[in-house]
Amino acid sequence: MMTKPQLFVLTALLSFGGLLKAQTKDLPAWAKETPEQKEARLAWWKHDRFGMFIHWGLYSVPARHEWVQNREEISPADYKNRYFNIFNPDLYDPKEWAAEAKAAGMKYAVLTTRHHEGFALWDTKFSDYKATNTPAGRDLFKEYAEAFRGAGLKVGIYFSLIDWHHPDFLIDRNHPMRNNKEARAANSQKDMNKFRKFLKDELRELLTNYGKIDQIFFDFSYPGEDGKGHDDWDSEGLLKIARELQPGIIINDRLDLNDKSYGWDYRTPEQFMPQEWPTENGQRVPWETCQTFSGSWGYDRDETTWKSTNQLIAMLIETVSKGGNLLLNVGPTARGNFDDRANSRLEGMGAWMKYNSRSIYGCTAAPADYTKPENCFLTYNPDTKRLYVHLLQWPFKTLYLPGYKGKVKYAQFLHDGSEIKYTARSSASHASHTTVTAGENDLIVNLPVQKPNVEIPVIELFLE
Ligand code: GLC
Repeated sequence: MMTKPQLFVLTALLSFGGLLKAQTKDLPAWAKETPEQKEARLAWWKHDRFGMFIHWGLYSVPARHEWVQNREEISPADYKNRYFNIFNPDLYDPKEWAAEAKAAGMKYAVLTTRHHEGFALWDTKFSDYKATNTPAGRDLFKEYAEAFRGAGLKVGIYFSLIDWHHPDFLIDRNHPMRNNKEARAANSQKDMNKFRKFLKDELRELLTNYGKIDQIFFDFSYPGEDGKGHDDWDSEGLLKIARELQPGIIINDRLDLNDKSYGWDYRTPEQFMPQEWPTENGQRVPWETCQTFSGSWGYDRDETTWKSTNQLIAMLIETVSKGGNLLLNVGPTARGNFDDRANSRLEGMGAWMKYNSRSIYGCTAAPADYTKPENCFLTYNPDTKRLYVHLLQWPFKTLYLPGYKGKVKYAQFLHDGSEIKYTARSSASHASHTTVTAGENDLIVNLPVQKPNVEIPVIELFLE
């Protein structure tokens, strides 16, 4: 016999279960994907780890950040008058972009098909504000998609929710005309329904006419006062189009549907390195940090906070060491090429990746019982059971691996496959020296005095 409170709990549980069932029953098939199915859909992306973000649009002409229209409060008409007929990327060769991305070790790319300024790189039927009508005179997105796919890279798109050009887009706190009273007053004449339809038409076009699209980066929702949230964009409607037209597509988390399990695939920390693998309800979630070479996404001639190649390689390693992906941005110039500062960094990363990519592809965070040695990042390949120790700072002859005794079969440098010797305290030849600091279960790795000629050297440990 059940007591009254027990009965109450049981009934509550049953009705909650029923409710859940009813809710899932109404969902389309793609929203009912199992965790295993999702894992399989994201498998290539989690394996590849490293992609190229590309921010390119009219803003590459002023070359003062892709938010220049907003920062300088330029009206849509003035912005168009200034830059639309100047945009003439005579050096644009996406095959070269793809070759550079590939040589850097990147495996996928995400291009801004339309950024907040509202200018489309593709030949859209739904707007005249497009590359086809500039001196460029052609569908620039199509050439990108073909070139990257042709080079064996996965093709992603960035799709702005925001549109500072569209006549029916209500002026809000993020709009260049936010402080303009007349423009504000004209809000009453606008029809966001038309804008919502426009967003869907454009998205459908991009996901129908250009072959397989592997990833989409929606950007971005900002609910609250004088902002726009998921209902303003009809985020659910956009999500549905993306999932139905491109069933394998991987979707970011900026549609403002984060309370729905099916509303996003991965987290997007921007210009920010999480302290550890991000979690959701205690579960580790897929994530990709997007980062810039300098402080701007669009080409910014005078921006000088460029990261060094060493910092960028360390950033890639750190990201993978926390189970994430790195989407590293290039802002091509108005003429359509990557500038020398971007080129030298891509080359530097490529030089490192050529010999060390085994510690990146297919790798993730190390199992919890491997503590990272001082000044090191660890990555781990669960298929090959190899652990990678990245030495950010070259130590003097000795590296201590805390608690690794009995766990390692063999050690070598990754870049040249040369053996690295190690001992445990009990078998160390200079026991009197090492006992001072090495713990009972530590391994003591013997390194050459001179750092090998590798930006960040990697030790590959074959685990037992
Ligand atoms: C932001 C910015 C933007 C950039 C993007 C990249 O939300 O609005 O300019 O495209 O993030 O993550």
